[in-house]
Amino acid sequence: MKVTVVGAGAVGATTADNIARAALAEELVILDIKEGIAEGKAQDMMQTAALLGFDTRITGSTNDYKKTAGSDVVVITSGLPRKPGMTREELIGVNAGIVKGVAENILQNSPDAIIIVVSNPMDTMTYLALQSTGLPKNRIIGMGGTLDSARFKYQLSQHLGASPADLNAVVVGGHGDTTMIPLIRFATWNSVPVTKFLSEDQQKQIVADTMVGGATLTKLIGTSAWYAPGAASAALVKSILRDEKKLFTCSVSLDGEYGQKDICLGVPVIIGKTGWEKILDFGLNEEEQALFSKSADAVRNMNDVLKTL
Ligand code: LAC
Repeated sequence: MKVTVVGAGAVGATTADNIARAALAEELVILDIKEGIAEGKAQDMMQTAALLGFDTRITGSTNDYKKTAGSDVVVITSGLPRKPGMTREELIGVNAGIVKGVAENILQNSPDAIIIVVSNPMDTMTYLALQSTGLPKNRIIGMGGTLDSARFKYQLSQHLGASPADLNAVVVGGHGDTTMIPLIRFATWNSVPVTKFLSEDQQKQIVADTMVGGATLTKLIGTSAWYAPGAASAALVKSILRDEKKLFTCSVSLDGEYGQKDICLGVPVIIGKTGWEKILDFGLNEEEQALFSKSADAVRNMNDVLKTL
C-alpha cells in the first residue's frame, strides 16, 4: 500500500507520523512546495523507525508529483492554516487555487487514489476537489467531522469524568465554528444517553465549546491545531487501507440525503477500501434538520465564492 500526504506543515507531518507509527502502508510519500521541508521531515521520521520498530519507507519530495505515482490514498493538507481571530472561511481565496492544483496533479499520477481533504474551508475544498478531478464521489472524503466528533467526545469526557474512548458522539454539518452541529441527543456513554447525566446548561456548554474547539486552540497556540487533525486523518487512512468499515463523520457529496444535493457536508459514513461506502441517514428531528439546512446554506454560499475566483 502507498500513501501520499501533500503538505508537510504541522497537520501533514503529524498525519504522516501517525500513519508510519501504525505501519499502515509500505510506502509513504510526503510532498511540499517549500524546498527541503518534506525531505527533512521524512528523514526525521525515518530516524524514528529503529526506535519505534516500523518498516514503512518514508520519502519526502519538493513538489515532484511523479514520486506520488500509484498512491492508494492521498491526504491533502496543503494551504494556509488560520491564525487567531480568523475563520476557516477566510482562507478560501488562497487555498482554493492550491487545492485545485494539488488535486489535479494527484489525479494525473494516481488515477485510482482515494482522496482525503483536510485543507480549509474543508467542506468547500472537498467540493472543489470533487469538481476539479471529476472522480466518483465515493473517492473524495472531507476529514472535518471526524475531528469535530473527537473534540465533542473530549468535551463530554471532561464534564462526565469519562474516558473519551467510552463515548460515542457525532458532529454533523459543516466544519465551521457556526456551521457544525454536535448531536448531543444521540451521544452515549457506553450506550447510555449522556443527557441522563448532564444538566441543560452543561449540555449547552459542551455543544458551544465543541463548536469553537479549533478556534480555542488557534488562539492558544497562535496557529491551527495539528495533533487531533493528524490523528483524525490517519484514522480515516487506516479504515480505508484495512477496510475496517468504521463509522466516521466526513464531508461527502450529498444526493438527497439529509435533504441536500450538490454539496459536500459532514454526515456519518462507513469508510472502507472503496472510500466512503454508505451514508447513514438516521433521521434528525425538526430542530436538528433546521440547523443542518442552515449549515448547508452557509457552505453553499462559500461554494458560490469558488465561481468568482
Ligand atoms: C481545526 C482545523 C484543522 O479544526 O480545521 O483544527
